[in-house]
Amino acid sequence: MADGFSLNDALSGSGKPNPQGWPGPWGNQPAGPGGYPGASYPGTYPGQGPPGAYPGQAPPGAYPGPTTPGYPGPAAPGAYPGQPGGPGAYPPPAQPSAPGAYPATGPYGTPSGPLNVPYDLPLPGGVMPRMLITILGTVKPNANRLALDFKKGNDVAFHFNPRFNEDNRRVIVCNSKLDNNWGREERQMVFPFECGKPFKIQVLVEPDHFKVAVNDAHLLQYNHRMRNLREISKLGISGDITLTSASHTMI
Ligand code: GAL
Repeated sequence: MADGFSLNDALSGSGKPNPQGWPGPWGNQPAGPGGYPGASYPGTYPGQGPPGAYPGQAPPGAYPGPTTPGYPGPAAPGAYPGQPGGPGAYPPPAQPSAPGAYPATGPYGTPSGPLNVPYDLPLPGGVMPRMLITILGTVKPNANRLALDFKKGNDVAFHFNPRFNEDNRRVIVCNSKLDNNWGREERQMVFPFECGKPFKIQVLVEPDHFKVAVNDAHLLQYNHRMRNLREISKLGISGDITLTSASHTMI
């Protein structure tokens, strides 16, 4: 299934997750020269993911090349950053990588099993523009909710909270919590998650907002309410999921 997976597959598989009509998963500009190749991962993945894996979810380590913080190629504005890397990524940045270089399970930093949920991903030095956080997991059957919480201490700069059954509706609630008080909710009815199915969430930090893509399709933006991005030093991942990996890198 991983072979030949493309952006079109991602878009056609989830209804209309692109209410703004943007042609690309991250915005309205295609990748330019030197940018990222798009949502379609080049190459093939001889090591298949677990049964039922999301077709775009390459087995850890199978990405064609790690992106390290010092990656020299500028991403075109709006280009899709398809390659996770950096601390905690698979393979680790120090490892060479080629398509299919690592088997789906192997010695090079691949997860030995699901991560415990709730899980806190440290973000040393906080977040900053061009930081990309990637979360891979699977929604549990009969899930009720999941949440990402970008935190500064007890405050939550960005709460991303898919709810599977709020009065029989599926909705994504975004908000911030300052001094223990939730602010005004921003709600998104486009809902790309499915009970029992794998997912990929990518959060790209941009100067004015967090930008979220799910399964390679742009989903929403959330304007920064907490301005001091460098103090947002933890990502909490919670809810009714099994968590395969959580990593961050610079693009
Ligand atoms: C509350 C809920 C919190 C959070 C918040 C967002 O009702 O208890 O977990 O989701 O909404 O506004």
